[in-house]
Amino acid sequence: MLAVAVTAAIAPAPAGASGRPILEVVGGNVAKAGEFPWVVRLSMGCGGALTAPRVVLTAGHCVGATGADKKITVTAGVTDLKAKNAVTAHSVEVIRAPGFQTETRGDDWAVVKLDRVLALPTLPLVPDASSDQGNVTVMGWGQTREGSLQQERRLHYATVPTIPDATCAKSYLAAKVTLVRADSICAGRHGVDTCQGDSGGPMVRRARDGRWAQVGIVSWGLGCARDAYPGVYTQISKFRTAILAATRKLS
Ligand code: ARG
Repeated sequence: MLAVAVTAAIAPAPAGASGRPILEVVGGNVAKAGEFPWVVRLSMGCGGALTAPRVVLTAGHCVGATGADKKITVTAGVTDLKAKNAVTAHSVEVIRAPGFQTETRGDDWAVVKLDRVLALPTLPLVPDASSDQGNVTVMGWGQTREGSLQQERRLHYATVPTIPDATCAKSYLAAKVTLVRADSICAGRHGVDTCQGDSGGPMVRRARDGRWAQVGIVSWGLGCARDAYPGVYTQISKFRTAILAATRKLS
């Protein structure tokens, strides 16, 4: 019974009626035009970030297997998906993490090659694990509450603290989900989290030079913004070398 509820709650598909209190997620902040110029929306209902002029970094569970892929439409350069200046491109090829099985098992990243170069800023990956703690910013066009079946027209973002792996793993063990600690960063605070439809989007922080760098990728969570269950993000520092190699292959 519990196992069924957990599976349903972490599925990328719209969350069902959970009977949980309705909580605002992503802090209710609407991003201003141009604020996060590298964040993109993918047509299957995920987020992503421009990691190279022609390559989007997203979650492994947002895409199919490695190979040719012409199905994804990418909307870029806007926070309002209906804005007239939205830039669109299409996928041509995908490289998914070789070890990927399902989002809760780690290795949840993929890179998508576009049919053209986009004239937009790219988001660098953090250089090492030293930025894997503290406050981070997360964003997406996904649901603003767990029970909502609606995606947002405007990009939402929030600042959330990271949560130690041990604490996070303990929480999820209560729901019989084993956190893959080496591959994950947990984050969230009361009433603030990412949610369904935010997957694949970037978790970022400012480097010492003031520029944004990518620390994580929205991956999964049990429900959204539940106090006992933080959001789980792919840990970029763990996969940096592999992501850069895959990106180079597609560039
Ligand atoms: N797997 C979800 C998606 O496909 C992301 C869920 C994030 N959940 C959370 N509670 N942080 O959009």
